[in-house]
Amino acid sequence: MTSVRKTARADAPAILRLAAAEPLFSREDREVVDELLAEYLEESEPGDYRFLTAVEDGRIAGFACYGPTPLTRGTYDLYWICVARGHRRRGTGRALLQAVIRGIRRNRGRLLSVETSGRRDFAPTRAFYERAGLIATARVPGFYAPGDDLVIFTYAVRPSRTRKPSKKPRRKAARRG
Ligand SMILES: CC(C)(COP(=O)(O)OP(=O)(O)OC[C@H]1O[C@@H](n2cnc3c(N)ncnc32)[C@H](O)[C@@H]1OP(=O)(O)O)[C@@H](O)C(=O)NCCC(=O)NCCS
Repeated sequence: MTSVRKTARADAPAILRLAAAEPLFSREDREVVDELLAEYLEESEPGDYRFLTAVEDGRIAGFACYGPTPLTRGTYDLYWICVARGHRRRGTGRALLQAVIRGIRRNRGRLLSVETSGRRDFAPTRAFYERAGLIATARVPGFYAPGDDLVIFTYAVRPSRTRKPSKKPRRKAARRG
């Protein structure tokens, strides 16, 4: 059974090992994960980078990092999502993505955006996003490098239908005139 929770300090070494073992992540990616995870662990309030940990049978199986996109209203970026090789195709990635979407919804966000590569070795990643209902909204040829396109996936986050009723009694609208 996979559960997803906010990343705790004790998860950091396992998350960094996981990122280091992922061949799709560049050295720069790993350094940035390290830096942002340290920043996240110092914060007392949710900041620009929020980490989630997936746990399966007591072991750390994956992580995700997302946060509000600067200079937008209600748009969030998914910066990284990664599942340990031995834990793939068991719904862990889906559970992490759903937790990200719930987090965005709780913060009244409205759009999830994910940037990924159009390279052949990222085909499973793109299949994962498509299967999760994200739409390949844009493609920028040669963005990362010659022959390495940027593909932007987006997902419209709908507000929860079961909003908690406000505790304050509603005032009657003042009549005009
Ligand atoms: C992408 C990734 C997070 C998916 O994690 P996962 O736990 O294996 O995904 P799930 O088991 O939740 O898969 C959900 C669905 O996505 C699709 N999917 C997942 N992996 C796939 C693959 N390798 N090939 C094709 N479809 C795939 C399938 O439809 C799958 O459902 P199914 O298993 O019932 O057919 C994982 O492969 C990974 O960590 N990849 C390397 C890092 C990466 O690319 N990160 C994203 C860029 S930051």
